[in-house]
Amino acid sequence: MKCTLMHKRIAVAEIELDDVSGYIQKISSVTAPEHLPVGITLRKGVCDRKELNDWWTDRSIPASRSGIREALETLNIASTKMLLVRCFGLSLSDQYWIKPENSELTWDAVNFFDNPFSDDMGDVLFGQPPKGADFDFSSPDNTSDGCLKKRWKIIDGKRALIKGGSNPFRQQPFNEMIASQVMDRLGIDHVPYSVIWSDGAPYSVCEDFVTADTELVSAWRILHTQKQDNSTSRYQHFVNCCKALGTPDIVPALDRMIVLDFIIANEDRHLNNFGLLRSAETLEWIGMAPVFDSGSSLGYDKVAAQIRAGRDITCKPFKKHHAEQLKLVSSFEWIDFDRLRDVGEIITDVLSTEQAKELIDENRISAIAEAAERRIQSLEAFAMVHDSPVPTDSTEDDVEVDVAEDYTPKMGM
Ligand SMILES: Nc1ncnc2c1ncn2[C@@H]1O[C@H](COP(=O)(O)OP(=O)(O)OP(=O)(O)O)[C@@H](O)[C@H]1O
Ligand SMILES: [Mg+2]
Repeated sequence: MKCTLMHKRIAVAEIELDDVSGYIQKISSVTAPEHLPVGITLRKGVCDRKELNDWWTDRSIPASRSGIREALETLNIASTKMLLVRCFGLSLSDQYWIKPENSELTWDAVNFFDNPFSDDMGDVLFGQPPKGADFDFSSPDNTSDGCLKKRWKIIDGKRALIKGGSNPFRQQPFNEMIASQVMDRLGIDHVPYSVIWSDGAPYSVCEDFVTADTELVSAWRILHTQKQDNSTSRYQHFVNCCKALGTPDIVPALDRMIVLDFIIANEDRHLNNFGLLRSAETLEWIGMAPVFDSGSSLGYDKVAAQIRAGRDITCKPFKKHHAEQLKLVSSFEWIDFDRLRDVGEIITDVLSTEQAKELIDENRISAIAEAAERRIQSLEAFAMVHDSPVPTDSTEDDVEVDVAEDYTPKMGM
């Protein structure tokens, strides 16, 4: 299929997609190089096809998504990349899409920010049988990333992401809400999450933080804008890339994200779980995106005794251990520890609902609350000693590979 890669209303490149696999077979011309996805290399006007394919593949639902195999079987579709083609690659997190050759489609007529979209794909992803012959694939669910079961819905005119948790505790939706409240206390720019229940299962709900004028560019893409040399740490490389792009100072926002992740013992802040916002039209960098996806934290997949022991906590994206990552924080002065005194209560309140009882018992709740309180104490002690840390750059303890947490082996536990 011949089509134009579009960035909102701008034609970026003429490409050809394989009709069976959905791969980009050919890039015939690049018409607006500055609008290519961030991190794609252009050499003498020629765009790197493998890089563009990696970007295109990353737009599709990952193979590790909970329930995706069943959904593809039900719809008789070979791969999640073919789902992408069916919705013109449109998303609610950025402004890229593909316009088939000779089609009259326009951004204004197709984009999901201003136009309604179908619930059909979301229904299938949530386990319902497909609607039949008039199944409508136009949905941003075809371009949503991440392993957890999720769907977009228009609620009271607003685009909202509804996301489940992994078995056996399904704790992630509650964690999102707890993290939101902790960030309220600390004045950290974040996406507010709440919890809803459907068919006896908890889901987190948050609004789209991207608008028809802005877009999210993941840290993974930002890191590809410059070559990293062996002696530069991943943290410093990220800061350097942001500086080179001309973003406003992102260090204060990184400080806040690292501190939050220390408090909630986040285990999955991989490079697609944070990023920068830019204007899709002017390409001007706005700054760090508000903090989102903080659910794989607070011992979400561990038993109470493991949470109490506080061992084996994975850390990402910069260092392998939270204690090391905390050393990257440039200032702790902004933290009002008095506002964190009731974090144990926040956790207990969010987790102690009648409906949550079946999933999370009292012993687990107190283990989670106590562990968080302990981490806040050690953060406070650390902050007192390291208030004006001397910036040094070291690659020691750096995270080498970046893989999102895969919940599939644990499903059905
Ligand atoms: N509120 C939002 N507004 C716009 N885009 C969002 C929003 N929340 C998430 N996204 C986009 O959707 C992707 C998937 O969402 P999210 O990271 O919350 O899912 P997940 O399944 O928890 O991911 P993971 O695989 O990291 O566990 C994000 O990487 C981001 O690109
Ligand atoms: Mg994620």
